[in-house]
Amino acid sequence: MRKRWKWIIYASSIVALVASASFTIYCAWKVYAYHQPGEREIKEHENNAYHFVLVPEELDNDYWRLVEKGAKAAAKETGVHLEYVGPRQANIDEHIHILEKAAASKVDGIMTQGLTEKEFTPVINRIIEKNIPVVTIDTDAPTSKRTAYIGTDNYYAGFIAGKALAEDMHGKANVAIITGSLTASHQKLRIQGFKDAVKNEKGIRIIAIEESNITRIQAAEKAYSILNKHPEVNAFYGTSALDAIGIAKVIEQFHREKETYIIGFDTLPETIHYLQKGTIHATVVQEPYDRGYRSEKKLVDIIKGNEVPSVTNTETKVIRKQDLPLRPARNYEVKHD
Ligand code: BGC
Repeated sequence: MRKRWKWIIYASSIVALVASASFTIYCAWKVYAYHQPGEREIKEHENNAYHFVLVPEELDNDYWRLVEKGAKAAAKETGVHLEYVGPRQANIDEHIHILEKAAASKVDGIMTQGLTEKEFTPVINRIIEKNIPVVTIDTDAPTSKRTAYIGTDNYYAGFIAGKALAEDMHGKANVAIITGSLTASHQKLRIQGFKDAVKNEKGIRIIAIEESNITRIQAAEKAYSILNKHPEVNAFYGTSALDAIGIAKVIEQFHREKETYIIGFDTLPETIHYLQKGTIHATVVQEPYDRGYRSEKKLVDIIKGNEVPSVTNTETKVIRKQDLPLRPARNYEVKHD
């Protein structure tokens, strides 16, 4: 009897051992099979290995935060590691230095602006010579070897701003221009387009042109000193995203909303707020989120050897209060993380 029990215990131990060994082997096989990549997975893995860098002229600028948001959304879809690095405050030397560093660390692709021909064309060409594709975004560097450009036709954008002002002011205005930069090529084009649009309007005079260094504070300071020096100014044109916002603040302080016209650039939340209130009368729409998104996808296409057009101009138009709310709704929320 004792012998029989011994035998039963012995047999059941062997069965348990075999069962647990088979289960372990089964699990191990499952794990192994799961990690064997199919063709699609291999491609996805390759995509994951891409490292792109987006270098804006100013890191914490609300406009560029929207570009970043769009680019990061696309990077998530394409499995790309996207870094967003740039000067804390607009500064060309720092911008160039960051581009050089990105190229030295052998990233797979770079998105940036071609702010000035003299400084940006040589650095972009050096990056291209290292076989790193460069997509210019927002501001082109047309004389460089950049791979592609995506963004506004800045001359055209300035031209439609000039036409809008002439129409809204019925051909009579004393205009002050506040620009992000007197040397950056996109800002120069926005001024040139504007001037050409109003050049045949006898009643339109450009009284002053000042620089804001793309900050709302400096735009406000410049608007303030212009109004002190030239009280006859009754229209402002702000050529970068925060200029019209700075101007609007000063116009409200001076209680000059009724007799002053403002046209600006972009559709940031503050711009929309002033447009709704009637302090800003018109603004040129750009699509920062969309261009961030599309430029990232373009870089992936370029790396995969797909053909991409060398210039893609994103939609640009003038809107006024009656065009609000914008459709399709834009993602206005600017998140600083
Ligand atoms: C321009 C950007 C610029 C930004 C500054 C936008 O209108 O397209 O290039 O950096 O304004 O606020």
